[in-house]
Order: sequence, then structure tokens, then C-alpha cells
Amino acid sequence: MSLLFPPVAQLYTEQARRDRARLAADPHRPAYHFTAPANWLNDPNGLIQYGGLYHLFYQHNPHATVSATKHWGHAVSRDLVHWEDWPIALAPAPGTADQDGCFSGCIVVHNGVPTMIYTGVRVDETGRKRQRPCVAVSYDGMVTWERHAGNPVIPAPPTDVDIFAFRDHAVWREADGWYHLVGSGIRQVGGAALLYRSDDLVTWDYLHPLYVGDMHQLDPLFTGIMWECPDFFALGDRHVLVVSVFDHLRGDTGAAFPMIHHSVYFSGEYADHRLTPTYAGLMDYGRSWYAPQSFTDDQGRRIMFGWLREERAFEVQKAAGWSGAMSLPRVLTMRPNGRLGQAPAPEVECLRGAVHSWEGLTLSSGKPWVLDGAAGDTLELVAEVRPGEAERVGLLVRAAPDGSEQTRIVYDQALGQLTLDTSEASLDPATRRAARHAPLRLPQGEPLRLRVFVDRSIVEVFANDDVCITSRVYPTHPDSLVVALFAEGGLARLDSLTRWEMRGIWG
Ligand code: FRU
Repeated sequence: MSLLFPPVAQLYTEQARRDRARLAADPHRPAYHFTAPANWLNDPNGLIQYGGLYHLFYQHNPHATVSATKHWGHAVSRDLVHWEDWPIALAPAPGTADQDGCFSGCIVVHNGVPTMIYTGVRVDETGRKRQRPCVAVSYDGMVTWERHAGNPVIPAPPTDVDIFAFRDHAVWREADGWYHLVGSGIRQVGGAALLYRSDDLVTWDYLHPLYVGDMHQLDPLFTGIMWECPDFFALGDRHVLVVSVFDHLRGDTGAAFPMIHHSVYFSGEYADHRLTPTYAGLMDYGRSWYAPQSFTDDQGRRIMFGWLREERAFEVQKAAGWSGAMSLPRVLTMRPNGRLGQAPAPEVECLRGAVHSWEGLTLSSGKPWVLDGAAGDTLELVAEVRPGEAERVGLLVRAAPDGSEQTRIVYDQALGQLTLDTSEASLDPATRRAARHAPLRLPQGEPLRLRVFVDRSIVEVFANDDVCITSRVYPTHPDSLVVALFAEGGLARLDSLTRWEMRGIWG
């Protein structure tokens, strides 16, 4: 299927098409989650629906599979699912404030002109890496971008707070002007979202932090020393601040993967340009989801993408020729208690192909029940399970017929916990494997409702409209495709399970 319409047909980049064709046979390359044509991808940037198209910009190194020399990659879609590569929107320009990198940011439309607010990186004469807010505008429907002559538009961070980082942007309109958050960290205090105001997106006045975290607090959520990629929006009866916690001081996983990486949201009351949270939660309990950004589309939906980073050694990523993927688009909703609801955008259902379903099975302890006809590595699975007497109940995906590799999605009734366990997902020692847990208590009588998206090296799990866990898996056996159900410690009942083969998005 082609999304092209005549004026942009010539924009289609032949190189991107060749790269995608070259990499398509890689058994770990996602088929229906967005990836860069080749090489490195990280944060979603500048998400916006404009001129009838969804625009997905992203942090991109087009030259290698490592996180360096950041450009803004660009893709567009009419349906939020099928994407088309457009030329790179922004590349570091020698002699400018972004000569060493065009870091993350957002796009808003000001007086009809799409305007990008991003972090320009420039290493100064003393070797100091300066990260400062920059602006660029587009007059041709967001294909090419002109830098503002006065970049950086904020020459230095505020001086009345002792901060040690200053990057990434969320910009929104209020009745009296533009407001802008910059991600930061206040020394010895914690992550901070610093608030500015402007009439024209170019001259900014610093106000104060919208909200500041506490780096010493570990429970219920660890919010670290610095916040990247702030995102801020009204949803339902509250406002929501989403930040990505960057903390290289505290690792949860040992030397090979030393950093904390998770995205936290705070929902609460926004008044006098300050946020008073009444609830805080994790966007996704997996370890691969990071740096999300959201936007409102023309149906009024708040839609979010997150970066799914790799969980395998850098040499392997280099050999593969690509790194990083986007999550599925998620529609966010505000639940009564301030918790965020997340569901895959309904558009994703257009990828559903051959379908199989099962109903009314009793699951007993013992060997997992292999679902004939369910196997595959590009699947959507929708299951309703009543845990009954069972202590644990769940699904295996990407499992080898002999069980030597398997990814387990496990609900534990007593613990009130959902786990995505990739500790046996791969026999390859160069992959990171771990169990990740999310709190999930099923109200009396409510079944466990799982929606699981398997896309080769991605397993993205949505449970009961409440929690999400996403991880990366890299099975080594070509036949690690089995889907099975299991119960432990008693009988459970499968009300229904539907399995679709999912089509790829690149044609
Ligand atoms: C988050 C991040 C941002 C930064 C960008 C650079 O993953 O570190 O803080 O702008 O990536 O690519």
C-alpha cells in the first residue's frame, strides 16, 4: 500500500527503501513496530498531526548503530500504522548551536508556521558539552527546516537553581502565551521540569520549576537525579507530567547495563503554573520503554509513542545494522483515581490477518498447554483468563518446542502482580534477560485481560487497561515460535483467546 500523494512522491527516499529491504530478513527486526530505515533510533520527537498526516520524528544516527551525532529522522503516516520515510528533517550544522547534535524536542504550530523546539548540542572551546534550546521553522509542510538566526534561544539555564542538566522540551499554548518545560536535575534534590513563558517561541522568560522530584525517595517510585524528555498535557479532570528518569548513579542491573531507565508520570492538579501530583505511576514496567512523547490528534485523542531500546550487546547491534524501535501508538485515558489507562490505538487492528480462537478451556497444573495453530513471531493475542484456584496463570510466547527458550507472561494472584519474564527468552549470552513486575490486582470477579503483541524481538503487553510491560527478546532457535497457556498450583479457566497473525507495515 502506498501512502504517497503526488506533491510528496518525490520525497520518498530511495536509500531508505533499500535499507529496509536489506534488513527485512533479520529475524529480530520488528515487522509492525516502527524502526528507522537503518542504524540508530531513540526518542520519538515532534509528534504532531498536520496537513492530514501524522508526523513521527525521531532521534536518529543515520551513520551507525550507536547513540551519536543525533539527527531528526522523519516518517509520516495517514493511519498511524503504515509509515513512509521522509528525508532527515534536521542534521547537526557546523558553526551553529547544534553542530554536535540535534537532541530531542517537540513541534507546535505558531501563527500557521510549524515550529520545532529542540536541544542543540555544541562542544565549546573548553570541551564543555553545551545543551541549549533551539528553534527551527518549516514553510514547506515540515520537509525542510530553517534554523532561527538567534539560536540558542535560551543561551543558558536559569542561575537561581543549581542544575546540572538542561535538555528536552514540551511546549503548549495557554490563553496568555506559550509555555515550555525543559528537562533538568537540581543538584542534591532531584529531577526537575523547568517552566518558561513566551509570546513568540523565541524570547523566553524563566518562571520556576513546574514540579521537582526527590532523588532520595525510593518508594513507591524512584524518580532519580535528572529528568529527560518532559511531556505535559491535560487529560480528563487532571494534568499529567511524564518524565524519563536518568540516573547513572544507581543501577538496578549490574555493570553491563548500569543505568536506571524508566518513565514516570505524575497526575494531579495544575494551578498557578505548578503541578501538585495526587498520583504517580510508571508508564511501562518493562526495561525497554523510555523517553515517550505524546500529542493530541484531530479526534482529541492523546496518543503516545515510546522508544523501545535494544537489550543486546552493542557489537551485535552493529552487526545487525539497526538499533531501536518505537512502541505501538498508545491511546491514553484518565482513570478515576488519577491512574493512566493505556490501550493500543484501534488503528493497529488493521494489521490483523489470519485468526484462530479458543474458548472455555480448563487449565490444570503441569505441562503448558500448547495452542496448535497459534505459533508465530508476529502476533496479537487477546486472552481472558479466570485464575480461579491457580496460584499463577499465564502465557508463553516465543517458546522453543523443547522449552529451552521461552518468554513468560505470568499473573500471580497472591502477589497481585503481572510479570514479563524474559530470563529464559534466549540462549544468547549477549542479550539482557530479566523478569519485570507490575502491580496488578484484579477486582473481584474480573478476569485477567491480556493483550499481547509479539513482533519478533518485541513483546508488548497491555493488561486490564491498567499496566503495560514491554521487553525485548532475541530467541536463537528459528522455531522458538510456540504459544502456550499454563496454570500453576490449581485449576484456572481460559474464557477466550484470540490470536491474529499480524501483517508487516512496510509492504
Ligand atoms: C533520552 C535522551 C534525551 C536527549 C536524547 C539524545 O533518551 O538522552 O535526553 O535529548 O536522548 O538523543
